Amino acid sequence: MIGVFDSGFGGLTVLKSVVQKMPEYNYLYLGDSARVPYGERSQETVYTYTIQAVDFLFKKGCQLVIIACNTVSSRALRRIQQEFLPGAYPDRKVLGVIRPSAEELVDRKCRKVGILATKGVVDSKIYTEELEEIDPPIEIFYQPCPLLVPIIEAGRQDEPRCDELVSGYLDGLFAQEGAIDTILLSCTHYPILYDAFRRHTPDQVEILSQGPIIADKLEDYLERHMEVERGLSRGGNRVFYSTGSLETFDRLAGVFYGEPIRAIPATLDSPE
Ligand code: DGL
Repeated sequence: MIGVFDSGFGGLTVLKSVVQKMPEYNYLYLGDSARVPYGERSQETVYTYTIQAVDFLFKKGCQLVIIACNTVSSRALRRIQQEFLPGAYPDRKVLGVIRPSAEELVDRKCRKVGILATKGVVDSKIYTEELEEIDPPIEIFYQPCPLLVPIIEAGRQDEPRCDELVSGYLDGLFAQEGAIDTILLSCTHYPILYDAFRRHTPDQVEILSQGPIIADKLEDYLERHMEVERGLSRGGNRVFYSTGSLETFDRLAGVFYGEPIRAIPATLDSPE
C-alpha cells in the first residue's frame, strides 16, 4: 500500500495524479485537517506531527509514504529519513515533493523560477538548497502566500477575496523579477486555484502544479527500486483518513480529488 500524507486536503491533488498514472496499487490518504495549516508552525512541531502521521500510515500497512506537502517535506523529511526511519522502520520508505520538483525545473531548463509557497517553505529556502547540489543556472524567487491554505481549507476558494489574494501575491513575485519564465505552485493546495493564478500571470509564463510531476517521478522511482515496488499491494483500493471533521472532509475533499470521498476518523499519537 502507498500512503499519502498532507496537513489537510492539498495532498489530494497529488494523490489524484498518482492514482491516474498508477491505478493498480492500493492507496491510503491521511489529512491532518484538525491541525492544518502547518505553514506557520515551528520546525519541531511539524516534525512531531509528521512522525505521528508516518507511524499511523506504517501501522496501517503502508510500505511507502509520500509526503504530499511542501511544508512537511522542507521542515521534517530529512530528519524523518535520517533519525526516525532507521530505528523505527528500517525497511520502509518516506519520499517528499521538493527533490522531484527541483529536478523537474532542471529537466525543463527553467532559468528564472517563482516559487509560491507557505511561509515555512519560503523561510527554509529549500529549493535553493536542493538546487545547489545540482548547480543548474536557475535563479529562484520566493513569494509566501500565507492566507491561501486557510481559505482553501475553509472551502472558500471561489470567493472574490481569493482572486484578490492571488493577484496580490503574484504582484509581489513579479515586483522581485519581471522576467520570470516559470512559476511552481509549491504548495499542494494551490492547484485548486490554478485558474486564478493563470488569469493573473502573463501567457508566456509557465505555471507548474506538482501532481503530474510527482506521479512521473514516483513511477520512475518504482521502476528503479523493484525491491520497494514488489512490497506494494495491488487491487485499486483507496482509503481516506482525516483527523478533522468528517463532514467537512467529505464535502471539500471531493473538490480536490474529483470524486466523492467518505473519510474514516484518525487519531494521531506519538509512537512509543
Ligand atoms: N499542502 C501543504 C504544502 O504543500 C500546505 C501546508 C500547510 O498546512 O500550511 O505546503
